[in-house]
Amino acid sequence: MLRQDFSSSRRAPLRPRSQYFFERGQIVFPDGTTRVTVERDPMPTYIARGEGAYLVDVDGNRLLDLNNNFTTLIHGHGYLPVADAVADLLQKGTCFSNPTEHELGLAELLVHRIPAIEHIRFVNSGTEAVMFAIKAARAFTGRSRIARVEGAYHGAYDWAEVSQGASPASWGPENMPASTTSYVGAPGSVAEDVDVIRFNDIEGLERRLAISGQELACILIDPMPSRAGLIAPDPAFIEAISILARQYGILVVADEVLNLRQAYRGASARFGLVPDLLAAGKIIGGGFPVGAVGGRKEVMEVFSCLSARPALPQGGTFSANPVSMVAGRVAMEALTPTSFERLEEMGVHVRNGLGAAIARYDAPFTVTGSASLFRIHPKRQAPRDYRQAFPTTEERSWIANLTSHFRQLDILLPFGAAACLSTTMTNADLDLIVQAFGDFLETHESDFGGVSA
Ligand SMILES: Cc1ncc(COP(=O)(O)O)c(C=O)c1O
Repeated sequence: MLRQDFSSSRRAPLRPRSQYFFERGQIVFPDGTTRVTVERDPMPTYIARGEGAYLVDVDGNRLLDLNNNFTTLIHGHGYLPVADAVADLLQKGTCFSNPTEHELGLAELLVHRIPAIEHIRFVNSGTEAVMFAIKAARAFTGRSRIARVEGAYHGAYDWAEVSQGASPASWGPENMPASTTSYVGAPGSVAEDVDVIRFNDIEGLERRLAISGQELACILIDPMPSRAGLIAPDPAFIEAISILARQYGILVVADEVLNLRQAYRGASARFGLVPDLLAAGKIIGGGFPVGAVGGRKEVMEVFSCLSARPALPQGGTFSANPVSMVAGRVAMEALTPTSFERLEEMGVHVRNGLGAAIARYDAPFTVTGSASLFRIHPKRQAPRDYRQAFPTTEERSWIANLTSHFRQLDILLPFGAAACLSTTMTNADLDLIVQAFGDFLETHESDFGGVSA
Protein backbone atom coordinates (compact mmCIF):
# COMPACT_ATOMS: atom_id res chain seq x y z
CA MET A 1 0.00 0.00 0.00
CA LEU A 2 1.39 3.40 -0.98
CA ARG A 3 1.45 5.59 2.10
CA GLN A 4 0.12 9.05 1.44
CA ASP A 5 1.99 12.07 2.77
CA PHE A 6 -0.68 14.18 4.42
CA SER A 7 1.63 16.92 5.70
CA SER A 8 0.79 19.31 2.86
CA SER A 9 -2.96 18.59 2.85
CA ARG A 10 -3.49 19.22 6.58
CA ARG A 11 -4.83 22.74 6.21
CA ALA A 12 -7.98 24.74 6.73
CA PRO A 13 -9.96 24.37 3.48
CA LEU A 14 -10.74 27.54 1.60
CA ARG A 15 -14.48 27.88 1.32
CA PRO A 16 -15.45 31.46 0.40
CA ARG A 17 -18.40 30.39 -1.75
CA SER A 18 -19.77 28.11 0.97
CA GLN A 19 -19.42 31.11 3.30
CA TYR A 20 -21.36 33.26 0.83
CA PHE A 21 -24.16 30.66 0.42
CA PHE A 22 -24.39 30.23 4.18
CA GLU A 23 -24.85 33.97 4.59
CA ARG A 24 -27.72 33.83 2.10
CA GLY A 25 -29.11 30.75 3.88
CA GLN A 26 -29.20 32.59 7.19
CA ILE A 27 -31.61 35.11 5.67
CA VAL A 28 -34.17 32.50 4.59
CA PHE A 29 -33.74 29.48 6.90
CA PRO A 30 -34.04 29.38 10.72
CA ASP A 31 -30.41 28.39 11.29
CA GLY A 32 -29.17 28.92 7.76
CA THR A 33 -29.97 25.37 6.64
CA THR A 34 -32.98 23.16 5.93
CA ARG A 35 -32.03 20.11 8.01
CA VAL A 36 -30.89 19.79 11.61
CA THR A 37 -28.56 17.03 10.42
CA VAL A 38 -26.49 19.29 8.17
CA GLU A 39 -22.98 19.30 9.60
CA ARG A 40 -21.13 22.56 10.09
CA ASP A 41 -17.50 23.08 10.99
CA PRO A 42 -18.24 25.92 11.68
CA MET A 43 -20.34 26.39 8.55
CA PRO A 44 -21.85 23.84 6.16
CA THR A 45 -20.01 22.83 3.01
CA TYR A 46 -22.19 23.55 -0.02
CA ILE A 47 -21.96 20.94 -2.73
CA ALA A 48 -21.78 21.67 -6.44
CA ARG A 49 -21.87 18.06 -7.65
CA GLY A 50 -21.14 14.45 -6.83
CA GLU A 51 -18.84 12.21 -8.84
CA GLY A 52 -18.89 8.57 -7.78
CA ALA A 53 -17.27 8.29 -4.36
CA TYR A 54 -16.43 12.00 -4.33
CA LEU A 55 -18.15 15.34 -3.83
CA VAL A 56 -17.02 18.58 -5.36
CA ASP A 57 -17.94 21.54 -3.23
CA VAL A 58 -18.87 24.99 -4.52
CA ASP A 59 -15.26 26.12 -3.95
CA GLY A 60 -13.85 23.31 -6.08
CA ASN A 61 -12.60 21.11 -3.20
CA ARG A 62 -12.88 17.37 -3.88
CA LEU A 63 -14.03 15.30 -0.90
CA LEU A 64 -14.27 11.56 -0.32
CA ASP A 65 -17.86 11.10 0.85
CA LEU A 66 -18.39 8.69 3.77
CA ASN A 67 -21.85 10.09 4.43
CA ASN A 68 -23.50 9.34 1.06
CA ASN A 69 -26.58 11.27 2.09
CA PHE A 70 -26.92 9.44 5.36
CA THR A 71 -26.12 5.99 3.88
CA THR A 72 -28.55 6.32 0.96
CA LEU A 73 -26.20 6.30 -2.02
CA ILE A 74 -24.86 2.78 -1.99
CA HIS A 75 -23.53 3.25 -5.55
CA GLY A 76 -22.13 6.71 -4.85
CA HIS A 77 -23.04 9.87 -6.74
CA GLY A 78 -24.30 10.19 -10.30
CA TYR A 79 -24.66 6.44 -10.80
CA LEU A 80 -25.13 6.21 -14.57
CA PRO A 81 -27.67 3.36 -14.86
CA VAL A 82 -30.02 5.29 -12.53
CA ALA A 83 -29.34 8.62 -14.24
CA ASP A 84 -30.09 7.13 -17.67
CA ALA A 85 -33.28 5.39 -16.53
CA VAL A 86 -34.58 8.53 -14.84
CA ALA A 87 -33.65 10.79 -17.78
CA ASP A 88 -35.65 8.48 -20.04
CA LEU A 89 -38.67 8.84 -17.77
CA LEU A 90 -38.66 12.59 -17.17
CA GLN A 91 -40.42 13.62 -20.34
CA LYS A 92 -43.04 10.89 -20.02
CA GLY A 93 -44.44 12.22 -16.76
CA THR A 94 -43.14 12.00 -13.21
CA CYS A 95 -46.26 11.37 -11.13
CA PHE A 96 -49.79 10.16 -11.75
CA SER A 97 -52.85 9.41 -9.69
CA ASN A 98 -52.95 6.02 -11.38
CA PRO A 99 -50.61 3.10 -10.74
CA THR A 100 -47.77 2.37 -13.16
CA GLU A 101 -45.74 -0.68 -14.12
CA HIS A 102 -42.74 0.92 -12.40
CA GLU A 103 -44.07 0.29 -8.88
CA LEU A 104 -44.45 -3.40 -9.75
CA GLY A 105 -40.79 -3.69 -10.73
CA LEU A 106 -39.46 -2.45 -7.39
CA ALA A 107 -42.16 -4.25 -5.37
CA GLU A 108 -41.46 -7.59 -7.08
CA LEU A 109 -37.75 -7.22 -6.51
CA LEU A 110 -38.21 -6.52 -2.80
CA VAL A 111 -40.84 -9.21 -2.26
CA HIS A 112 -38.58 -11.82 -3.89
CA ARG A 113 -35.48 -10.66 -2.10
CA ILE A 114 -36.43 -9.73 1.46
CA PRO A 115 -37.82 -12.72 3.39
CA ALA A 116 -39.99 -10.63 5.74
CA ILE A 117 -41.78 -8.85 2.88
CA GLU A 118 -44.73 -10.76 1.41
CA HIS A 119 -46.75 -7.64 0.57
CA ILE A 120 -45.53 -4.06 0.36
CA ARG A 121 -46.72 -0.44 0.19
CA PHE A 122 -44.56 2.49 -0.93
CA VAL A 123 -44.33 5.88 0.76
CA ASN A 124 -41.92 8.82 0.45
CA SER A 125 -39.49 8.63 3.34
CA GLY A 126 -38.15 6.42 6.07
CA THR A 127 -40.11 8.45 8.61
CA GLU A 128 -43.34 7.62 6.81
CA ALA A 129 -42.36 3.97 6.46
CA VAL A 130 -41.79 3.63 10.21
CA MET A 131 -44.96 5.60 10.93
CA PHE A 132 -47.08 3.31 8.75
CA ALA A 133 -45.43 0.21 10.16
CA ILE A 134 -46.36 1.34 13.68
CA LYS A 135 -49.88 2.24 12.57
CA ALA A 136 -50.24 -1.13 10.82
CA ALA A 137 -49.17 -2.93 13.99
CA ARG A 138 -51.76 -0.93 15.93
CA ALA A 139 -54.49 -1.59 13.37
CA PHE A 140 -53.70 -5.33 13.37
CA THR A 141 -53.50 -5.80 17.13
CA GLY A 142 -56.04 -3.18 18.22
CA ARG A 143 -53.43 -1.91 20.72
CA SER A 144 -51.83 1.54 20.67
CA ARG A 145 -48.76 1.22 22.90
CA ILE A 146 -45.31 0.53 21.41
CA ALA A 147 -41.86 -0.40 22.72
CA ARG A 148 -38.63 0.88 21.23
CA VAL A 149 -34.90 0.97 21.88
CA GLU A 150 -33.30 3.86 23.75
CA GLY A 151 -31.26 6.22 21.56
CA ALA A 152 -32.17 4.58 18.24
CA TYR A 153 -33.17 6.93 15.44
CA HIS A 154 -36.41 6.06 13.64
CA GLY A 155 -37.35 9.34 11.93
CA ALA A 156 -39.77 12.04 13.00
CA TYR A 157 -43.08 10.32 13.92
CA ASP A 158 -43.87 11.41 17.50
CA TRP A 159 -44.08 7.92 19.03
CA ALA A 160 -41.06 6.67 17.10
CA GLU A 161 -39.04 9.64 18.41
CA VAL A 162 -39.48 8.94 22.11
CA SER A 163 -36.11 8.77 23.93
CA GLN A 164 -34.20 9.00 20.66
CA GLY A 165 -32.05 11.80 22.03
CA ALA A 166 -31.99 10.55 25.64
CA SER A 167 -29.16 11.93 27.77
CA PRO A 168 -27.82 11.09 31.23
CA ALA A 169 -29.94 13.93 32.62
CA SER A 170 -33.16 12.41 31.29
CA TRP A 171 -32.71 8.71 30.63
CA GLY A 172 -33.62 7.43 34.10
CA PRO A 173 -32.50 4.21 35.78
CA GLU A 174 -30.77 1.44 33.82
CA ASN A 175 -33.32 -1.14 34.82
CA MET A 176 -36.31 1.03 33.80
CA PRO A 177 -35.34 3.67 31.20
CA ALA A 178 -37.51 6.79 31.16
CA SER A 179 -39.68 7.66 28.15
CA THR A 180 -38.86 11.19 27.06
CA THR A 181 -40.42 13.24 24.28
CA SER A 182 -38.05 14.73 21.77
CA TYR A 183 -39.30 18.27 21.20
CA VAL A 184 -40.62 21.12 23.27
CA GLY A 185 -44.40 20.97 23.54
CA ALA A 186 -44.75 17.32 22.47
CA PRO A 187 -47.87 15.84 24.09
CA GLY A 188 -46.95 14.05 27.32
CA SER A 189 -49.37 11.28 26.31
CA VAL A 190 -46.95 10.32 23.52
CA ALA A 191 -44.26 9.36 26.02
CA GLU A 192 -46.85 7.59 28.19
CA ASP A 193 -47.66 5.30 25.28
CA VAL A 194 -44.07 4.25 24.60
CA ASP A 195 -41.94 1.81 26.59
CA VAL A 196 -38.20 2.22 26.26
CA ILE A 197 -35.82 -0.73 26.41
CA ARG A 198 -32.04 -0.85 26.19
CA PHE A 199 -30.38 -2.53 23.24
CA ASN A 200 -29.03 -6.02 24.06
CA ASP A 201 -30.73 -5.96 27.49
CA ILE A 202 -32.75 -9.17 27.69
CA GLU A 203 -33.68 -8.81 31.37
CA GLY A 204 -34.87 -5.26 30.81
CA LEU A 205 -37.02 -6.44 27.92
CA GLU A 206 -38.55 -9.20 30.04
CA ARG A 207 -39.19 -6.75 32.89
CA ARG A 208 -40.93 -4.27 30.59
CA LEU A 209 -43.09 -6.84 28.90
CA ALA A 210 -44.11 -8.35 32.23
CA ILE A 211 -45.66 -4.93 33.00
CA SER A 212 -47.13 -3.85 29.68
CA GLY A 213 -46.65 -6.74 27.24
CA GLN A 214 -50.43 -7.28 26.87
CA GLU A 215 -50.87 -3.64 25.78
CA LEU A 216 -48.12 -3.46 23.20
CA ALA A 217 -48.84 -3.35 19.47
CA CYS A 218 -45.20 -3.70 18.47
CA ILE A 219 -41.57 -3.73 19.41
CA LEU A 220 -39.78 -1.37 17.03
CA ILE A 221 -36.19 -2.42 16.49
CA ASP A 222 -33.36 -1.45 14.17
CA PRO A 223 -31.07 -4.51 14.18
CA MET A 224 -27.94 -2.30 14.29
CA PRO A 225 -29.04 1.17 15.37
CA SER A 226 -26.63 3.73 13.97
CA ARG A 227 -27.23 6.72 16.24
CA ALA A 228 -27.42 4.41 19.25
CA GLY A 229 -23.84 3.28 18.57
CA LEU A 230 -23.91 1.08 15.45
CA ILE A 231 -23.65 -1.87 17.79
CA ALA A 232 -24.06 -5.50 16.74
CA PRO A 233 -27.11 -7.20 18.22
CA ASP A 234 -26.49 -10.02 20.66
CA PRO A 235 -28.09 -13.11 19.02
CA ALA A 236 -29.70 -13.97 22.37
CA PHE A 237 -31.35 -10.52 22.44
CA ILE A 238 -32.74 -11.00 18.93
CA GLU A 239 -34.05 -14.43 19.91
CA ALA A 240 -35.61 -13.04 23.11
CA ILE A 241 -37.45 -10.38 21.12
CA SER A 242 -38.97 -13.00 18.84
CA ILE A 243 -39.95 -15.38 21.63
CA LEU A 244 -41.39 -12.74 23.96
CA ALA A 245 -43.22 -10.92 21.18
CA ARG A 246 -45.01 -14.14 20.18
CA GLN A 247 -45.78 -14.90 23.81
CA TYR A 248 -47.52 -11.53 24.34
CA GLY A 249 -49.10 -11.23 20.87
CA ILE A 250 -46.84 -8.28 20.00
CA LEU A 251 -45.69 -7.64 16.43
CA VAL A 252 -42.00 -7.16 15.68
CA VAL A 253 -41.31 -4.16 13.44
CA ALA A 254 -37.81 -4.07 11.95
CA ASP A 255 -36.65 -0.61 10.98
CA GLU A 256 -34.29 -1.35 8.09
CA VAL A 257 -34.44 2.13 6.61
CA LEU A 258 -30.69 2.38 7.08
CA ASN A 259 -29.72 -1.24 7.58
CA LEU A 260 -31.25 -2.91 4.56
CA ARG A 261 -27.76 -2.35 3.14
CA GLN A 262 -26.40 -4.93 5.61
CA ALA A 263 -26.86 -7.81 3.20
CA TYR A 264 -28.52 -8.97 -0.01
CA ARG A 265 -31.60 -10.01 1.99
CA GLY A 266 -31.35 -7.18 4.48
CA ALA A 267 -30.44 -6.80 8.14
CA SER A 268 -33.10 -8.97 9.75
CA ALA A 269 -32.08 -11.91 7.59
CA ARG A 270 -28.45 -11.24 8.46
CA PHE A 271 -29.02 -11.06 12.21
CA GLY A 272 -31.70 -13.73 12.58
CA LEU A 273 -34.62 -11.44 13.34
CA VAL A 274 -38.01 -12.55 11.98
CA PRO A 275 -40.13 -9.39 11.84
CA ASP A 276 -43.86 -9.19 11.11
CA LEU A 277 -43.37 -5.79 9.47
CA LEU A 278 -40.32 -4.13 7.97
CA ALA A 279 -39.72 -0.47 7.18
CA ALA A 280 -37.32 0.34 4.34
CA GLY A 281 -36.06 3.51 2.68
CA LYS A 282 -32.77 5.10 1.60
CA ILE A 283 -31.06 2.62 -0.79
CA ILE A 284 -34.33 1.34 -2.28
CA GLY A 285 -34.93 4.75 -3.91
CA GLY A 286 -31.68 4.87 -5.88
CA GLY A 287 -31.06 8.42 -4.63
CA PHE A 288 -34.67 9.65 -4.82
CA PRO A 289 -37.17 10.10 -1.94
CA VAL A 290 -38.68 6.79 -0.91
CA GLY A 291 -39.94 4.62 1.89
CA ALA A 292 -41.67 1.26 2.05
CA VAL A 293 -43.53 -0.78 4.59
CA GLY A 294 -43.75 -4.49 3.98
CA GLY A 295 -44.55 -7.59 5.94
CA ARG A 296 -46.63 -10.69 6.40
CA LYS A 297 -49.69 -10.79 4.10
CA GLU A 298 -52.01 -11.29 7.03
CA VAL A 299 -50.75 -8.13 8.75
CA MET A 300 -50.54 -6.09 5.53
CA GLU A 301 -54.25 -6.76 5.01
CA VAL A 302 -54.87 -3.73 7.26
CA PHE A 303 -54.04 -1.58 4.21
CA SER A 304 -56.49 -3.36 1.91
CA CYS A 305 -59.69 -1.61 0.85
CA LEU A 306 -61.04 -4.56 -1.14
CA SER A 307 -63.78 -5.60 1.27
CA ALA A 308 -64.50 -2.47 3.32
CA ARG A 309 -62.84 0.73 4.47
CA PRO A 310 -59.31 -0.35 5.33
CA ALA A 311 -58.39 -0.70 8.98
CA LEU A 312 -55.53 1.64 8.06
CA PRO A 313 -56.04 4.02 5.14
CA GLN A 314 -52.71 4.97 3.51
CA GLY A 315 -52.19 7.23 0.54
CA GLY A 316 -49.62 9.90 -0.21
CA THR A 317 -49.51 12.26 -3.22
CA PHE A 318 -46.04 11.12 -4.28
CA SER A 319 -46.17 7.55 -2.98
CA ALA A 320 -44.87 5.11 -5.60
CA ASN A 321 -44.01 7.94 -7.99
CA PRO A 322 -42.38 6.50 -11.14
CA VAL A 323 -39.08 8.35 -10.68
CA SER A 324 -38.33 6.85 -7.27
CA MET A 325 -39.65 3.45 -8.37
CA VAL A 326 -37.48 3.25 -11.49
CA ALA A 327 -34.39 4.67 -9.80
CA GLY A 328 -34.87 2.27 -6.90
CA ARG A 329 -35.35 -0.78 -9.10
CA VAL A 330 -32.27 -0.01 -11.19
CA ALA A 331 -30.12 0.66 -8.11
CA MET A 332 -31.35 -2.48 -6.35
CA GLU A 333 -30.96 -4.71 -9.43
CA ALA A 334 -27.33 -3.67 -9.60
CA LEU A 335 -26.89 -4.82 -6.00
CA THR A 336 -26.24 -8.50 -6.61
CA PRO A 337 -24.98 -11.01 -4.04
CA THR A 338 -21.51 -10.34 -5.51
CA SER A 339 -21.88 -6.60 -4.82
CA PHE A 340 -22.70 -7.37 -1.20
CA GLU A 341 -19.70 -9.69 -0.92
CA ARG A 342 -17.50 -6.89 -2.21
CA LEU A 343 -19.08 -4.35 0.18
CA GLU A 344 -18.51 -6.81 3.01
CA GLU A 345 -14.83 -7.22 2.09
CA MET A 346 -14.44 -3.46 1.84
CA GLY A 347 -15.99 -2.97 5.29
CA VAL A 348 -13.78 -5.65 6.82
CA HIS A 349 -10.72 -4.08 5.19
CA VAL A 350 -11.52 -0.63 6.63
CA ARG A 351 -12.56 -1.82 10.10
CA ASN A 352 -9.48 -4.06 10.37
CA GLY A 353 -7.27 -1.22 9.17
CA LEU A 354 -8.74 1.18 11.73
CA GLY A 355 -8.41 -1.49 14.42
CA ALA A 356 -4.75 -2.08 13.51
CA ALA A 357 -4.05 1.66 13.78
CA ILE A 358 -5.69 1.72 17.22
CA ALA A 359 -3.52 -1.20 18.32
CA ARG A 360 -0.38 0.42 16.87
CA TYR A 361 -0.81 3.56 18.97
CA ASP A 362 -2.53 1.82 21.88
CA ALA A 363 -5.17 4.49 21.35
CA PRO A 364 -8.37 4.69 23.41
CA PHE A 365 -10.66 4.14 20.41
CA THR A 366 -12.82 1.33 19.17
CA VAL A 367 -14.63 0.59 15.92
CA THR A 368 -18.13 -0.85 15.53
CA GLY A 369 -20.23 -1.75 12.52
CA SER A 370 -20.57 -4.45 9.90
CA ALA A 371 -20.95 -4.83 6.14
CA SER A 372 -20.41 -1.40 4.53
CA LEU A 373 -20.89 0.57 7.77
CA PHE A 374 -18.46 1.64 10.45
CA ARG A 375 -18.33 3.99 13.39
CA ILE A 376 -15.30 5.11 15.39
CA HIS A 377 -15.86 5.59 19.14
CA PRO A 378 -13.35 7.40 21.38
CA LYS A 379 -13.68 4.59 23.92
CA ARG A 380 -11.44 1.65 24.72
CA GLN A 381 -14.30 -0.83 25.16
CA ALA A 382 -16.77 -1.51 22.35
CA PRO A 383 -20.16 -0.27 23.63
CA ARG A 384 -23.05 -2.72 23.96
CA ASP A 385 -25.84 -0.17 24.13
CA TYR A 386 -26.65 3.52 23.71
CA ARG A 387 -25.65 4.46 27.27
CA GLN A 388 -22.23 2.93 26.83
CA ALA A 389 -21.88 4.56 23.40
CA PHE A 390 -22.98 7.97 24.69
CA PRO A 391 -19.91 10.22 24.54
CA THR A 392 -18.73 12.26 27.52
CA THR A 393 -17.93 15.92 26.90
CA GLU A 394 -14.28 15.01 26.47
CA GLU A 395 -15.14 12.20 24.06
CA ARG A 396 -17.36 14.55 22.04
CA SER A 397 -14.43 16.85 21.53
CA TRP A 398 -12.36 13.88 20.34
CA ILE A 399 -15.07 13.05 17.80
CA ALA A 400 -15.13 16.70 16.70
CA ASN A 401 -11.33 16.71 16.35
CA LEU A 402 -11.41 13.49 14.38
CA THR A 403 -14.14 14.73 12.02
CA SER A 404 -12.30 17.97 11.53
CA HIS A 405 -9.01 16.12 10.87
CA PHE A 406 -10.72 14.02 8.19
CA ARG A 407 -12.27 17.19 6.77
CA GLN A 408 -8.86 18.81 6.49
CA LEU A 409 -7.76 15.78 4.50
CA ASP A 410 -10.82 16.18 2.26
CA ILE A 411 -12.74 13.24 3.67
CA LEU A 412 -16.31 13.71 4.93
CA LEU A 413 -16.70 11.56 8.05
CA PRO A 414 -20.19 11.81 9.61
CA PHE A 415 -20.19 13.15 13.17
CA GLY A 416 -21.47 10.62 15.72
CA ALA A 417 -23.21 8.38 13.21
CA ALA A 418 -22.49 5.59 10.78
CA ALA A 419 -19.92 6.18 8.06
CA CYS A 420 -20.59 4.16 4.94
CA LEU A 421 -18.86 2.79 1.90
CA SER A 422 -20.24 2.62 -1.62
CA THR A 423 -19.77 0.19 -4.50
CA THR A 424 -17.92 2.85 -6.46
CA MET A 425 -15.07 3.19 -3.95
CA THR A 426 -11.66 1.82 -4.86
CA ASN A 427 -9.07 0.14 -2.65
CA ALA A 428 -7.13 3.41 -2.76
CA ASP A 429 -10.17 5.20 -1.26
CA LEU A 430 -10.36 2.63 1.52
CA ASP A 431 -6.65 2.96 2.25
CA LEU A 432 -7.06 6.72 2.41
CA ILE A 433 -9.60 6.33 5.23
CA VAL A 434 -7.31 4.03 7.19
CA GLN A 435 -4.29 6.26 6.64
CA ALA A 436 -6.18 9.40 7.64
CA PHE A 437 -7.11 7.74 10.93
CA GLY A 438 -3.55 6.51 11.50
CA ASP A 439 -2.35 10.04 10.80
CA PHE A 440 -4.81 11.39 13.40
CA LEU A 441 -3.67 8.90 16.03
CA GLU A 442 -0.02 9.62 15.30
CA THR A 443 -0.63 13.36 15.65
CA HIS A 444 -2.39 12.91 18.99
CA GLU A 445 -0.39 10.01 20.41
CA SER A 446 0.99 12.08 23.26
CA ASP A 447 -2.53 13.27 24.29
CA PHE A 448 -4.07 9.85 24.83
CA GLY A 449 -3.25 9.73 28.51
CA GLY A 450 -6.06 12.27 29.00
CA VAL A 451 -8.84 10.20 27.40
CA SER A 452 -10.91 8.21 29.83
CA ALA A 453 -10.97 4.49 29.08
C1 LIG B 1 -33.13 3.75 11.02
C2 LIG B 1 -33.82 4.93 10.42
N1 LIG B 1 -35.16 4.98 10.43
C3 LIG B 1 -35.84 6.00 9.89
C4 LIG B 1 -35.19 7.06 9.30
C5 LIG B 1 -35.96 8.20 8.70
O1 LIG B 1 -35.81 8.18 7.32
P1 LIG B 1 -36.05 9.52 6.46
O2 LIG B 1 -34.95 10.46 6.80
O3 LIG B 1 -36.05 9.05 5.04
O4 LIG B 1 -37.39 10.06 6.88
C6 LIG B 1 -33.79 7.05 9.27
C7 LIG B 1 -33.04 8.17 8.67
O5 LIG B 1 -31.86 8.33 8.82
C8 LIG B 1 -33.09 5.96 9.84
O6 LIG B 1 -31.75 5.91 9.85
